[in-house]
Amino acid sequence: MRVFLFGLGMVAAVGLMGCEANPKPTPINELKPRELHGYTVFQSRCGVCHYDRKDGTRHGPALVGLYKKRALPSGAAATDERVTATIQHGRGMMPAMGDTIDPQDLDDLLMYLHTL
Ligand code: HEC
Repeated sequence: MRVFLFGLGMVAAVGLMGCEANPKPTPINELKPRELHGYTVFQSRCGVCHYDRKDGTRHGPALVGLYKKRALPSGAAATDERVTATIQHGRGMMPAMGDTIDPQDLDDLLMYLHTL
């Protein structure tokens, strides 16, 4: 019985560890050049509505851990295709950016979002 309870305890402990917060975003000073450029794109195009490095809703959901979570806030798969479509076509109160966002900027922005 004692061994069994110990076993249960271990299962619970491992379970809790599994629920630990996602790894933290890469520190700004460790970003590679293109990621760093993506960070500046984020600040000019997304930062008014989204937090990138902490939880909490601004106008839209926080994007911290975006690709580390199982799904986007809407439940859609967290893929580049889906995030690109959201940026280009908009979603709910999020405005469509269409081709007002330069393809290179978009690429670097996605690279930055992957570091969150
Ligand atoms: C004017 C405010 C605004 C701006 C600017 C904005 N967003 Fe959003 N965003 C929102 C809102 C509001 C939502 C929630 C939409 C909904 O689900 O109804 C959202 C949702 C999202 C989602 C979640 C989509 C999903 O399927 O759950 C992603 C990812 C996202 N935004 C990324 C970005 C990125 C990257 C940028 C910059 C290029 C950006 N947003 C710029 C307001 C904004």
